[in-house]
Amino acid sequence: MSIPERLAAGEPGWTTDADVVVVGSGIAGLIAALRLRDRVGTVLVVTKDVLSAGSTQWAQGGIAAALGPGDTPAQHEHDTLIAGAGACDPAAVRVLVTEGPEAVRELIALGANFDHSADGELSLTREGGHHRDRIAHAGGDATGAEIQRALVAAIKAAPDIEVVEHALAVDLLLSAYDGTGAVAGITLHVMGEGQRDGVGAVRCRAVVLASGGLGQVFSQTTNPAVSTGDGMALALRAGAVLRDLEFVQFHPTVMYLGPDSRGQQPLISEAVRGEGAVLVDFAGNRFMQGVHELADLAPRDVVAKAITRRMHEEGQPHMWLDARHLGAAFWERRFPTILATCRSHGIDPVTELIPVAPACHYASGGVATDLWGRSSVPGLYATGEVACSGVHGANRLASNSLLEGLVFSRRIAEVLPDELAHQTDAAPDPRTPGVVAADVRGALQATMTERVGVLRSATGLDLAATELAALADKDGEIGTGGWETTNLVTLSCALTDAARHREETRGSHWREDFPERDDAHFAGHFDVTMTGGRIEVAFRSAPASDGAEERR
Ligand code: SIN
Repeated sequence: MSIPERLAAGEPGWTTDADVVVVGSGIAGLIAALRLRDRVGTVLVVTKDVLSAGSTQWAQGGIAAALGPGDTPAQHEHDTLIAGAGACDPAAVRVLVTEGPEAVRELIALGANFDHSADGELSLTREGGHHRDRIAHAGGDATGAEIQRALVAAIKAAPDIEVVEHALAVDLLLSAYDGTGAVAGITLHVMGEGQRDGVGAVRCRAVVLASGGLGQVFSQTTNPAVSTGDGMALALRAGAVLRDLEFVQFHPTVMYLGPDSRGQQPLISEAVRGEGAVLVDFAGNRFMQGVHELADLAPRDVVAKAITRRMHEEGQPHMWLDARHLGAAFWERRFPTILATCRSHGIDPVTELIPVAPACHYASGGVATDLWGRSSVPGLYATGEVACSGVHGANRLASNSLLEGLVFSRRIAEVLPDELAHQTDAAPDPRTPGVVAADVRGALQATMTERVGVLRSATGLDLAATELAALADKDGEIGTGGWETTNLVTLSCALTDAARHREETRGSHWREDFPERDDAHFAGHFDVTMTGGRIEVAFRSAPASDGAEERR
C-alpha cells in the first residue's frame, strides 16, 4: 500500500499572491485573520464552503473560562489536566486557562452577545469534568452560531481581508521537498466563477491552518460534512508532524436516529446534563451514579464508556437522556435549538426521553504545534481542532475547544509577523501524485466505526489496517470527492496506526485488550509522519501531566 504523497490535480490555471493564507473560517481562522490584518501586508482567508459553514457554528454548550466569582485559572487548569488523563502539555494548558478570560472578554467586545442573568452578570453553566460553573453561552444553546455571526460581521467590515469561499485547500507548495523546505504557497481548488475557477496557486510566505477536524472519518459524527481532515492531511503530506491522533473524542449524548443514519447527527449538549438531565437505561435506572464522583457530569470519556458498556449489556443501540423535569418554559428559554431539533425528529424532550448514543465529536490530536502555533514546517502554523497544541491530552474538557482556537490564534498573530521569511519560489515537486476512489468512503467509514471507534482491540485494529490498505489502493478520479476521500484514507491509516501502538486505555482511547492506563510505558505521545507514501509512528515520552504520579 502507498498513500498518495500529494493530491493529483491539474496544473494551476490561475495564481495570486498574499503574505498569509488562513485556511478555515471558524473561530480559529477568523480570529487569526482579524488579528493579523494590521500586522502583515495581505491576508487571504480561504474556506471550503461559505464563511459560516464550519464546526464553530454547531457548538452548543459554550466556551469555558474562569470568569465567575470564586473561579480561578488554576481550578480550570486542574480540571483540564484531569480530563486529559495525563497526556496534556502542562505549559499549553497554563497558557489556555490564564489567557482565556481576557480572550473571551475581547470576543464579547468584538460583538458576540453572550447570555446574561437578570442582574447583568454573564450567565455561566457547567459541563462534564468541570467543578465550577464556567461555561459562557449565547442564545441559550446557540453559542457557536452567535460567535460565528459576530466574527463574520467583523470580517465583512474589514475590506482589506480577502475571502475566497468554496475553496478546497489541495496541497502546500514548499521551497524544498527534502524535509528542509519552508512554505512557499498553497494550491486551491475553487468552485467559483471568472478568474478564480478551478485549480490555482497562491504564492505566500506563511499558511495558518484553521481547517477543523476529521469527523467524517466515522459513519456518525457531530461534525459537518466539510470536516474531512483536509488540513491535517495536507500538513502530513508536506512533512509536518501529527500528534495524538488516536485520541478521538466520542460525545456521549448524540441523538440516536436509527441504525441507518449516516453523517452529521444532532448533538444534545452536555449543558443539558449541566442543568440537571440524567442518563437512564431501558429499565429507567440512573447508571452513572457510582461510576464517578461527578455522576452524569463525569468527564466525557467516562460517560461515553459507561453508555457503551450499558448498551452492550442490554443489547441496545442507545440509552436515554431524561430531561423532562426541566419543563417546557425552561426548555424553550435555555435550549431552543436542541428542543426544535428533537421535535423535528419526532421526540418531545418535555414529555419524552431522548434516545442517545456516543458518536465521533472531536479530534484531540492534529498538527503538532508549540506554544505559539508553529508546526514542524517553517511558515506553517495551526490552530483550533486541526492542531495539537497539547491542551486536550487524551480527552478534551468540555467547551475548551472554542477557547483553544481563540487563545492560540491570538498567539500566532503575536509571533508570525516577525517570523515572515521573504517569498521564495516553490521547488519542482517530486512527490508522486494520486487520488483514491471517492466511492470507497462508505466502506472506510464503516471500517473506522466498527473497528477504530469507541472500543478498540488489537484484532479490530489489525483488521482495520488491512481493510484501509486495500481501500487506499483503489485509484480514483481527480475532483473534490476523490481529494476528500484521499484525505480521509490518509488520516484513517495514520489514526489506526497510532491506536495500534498505544497498548493501554487512556482518556478517549479505550482498548478492550489493554484495559488499564499504563504510565510506565505510554506516558507520552505518538508522533505520526509520512515518508514516500508510508505512515511512520514514533513514541515521544513525556511525564504524565495530571498529577497521577504524585498522587500514588
Ligand atoms: C456540548 O455542548 O456538549 C459540546 C461542547 C463541547 O464539545 O465542548
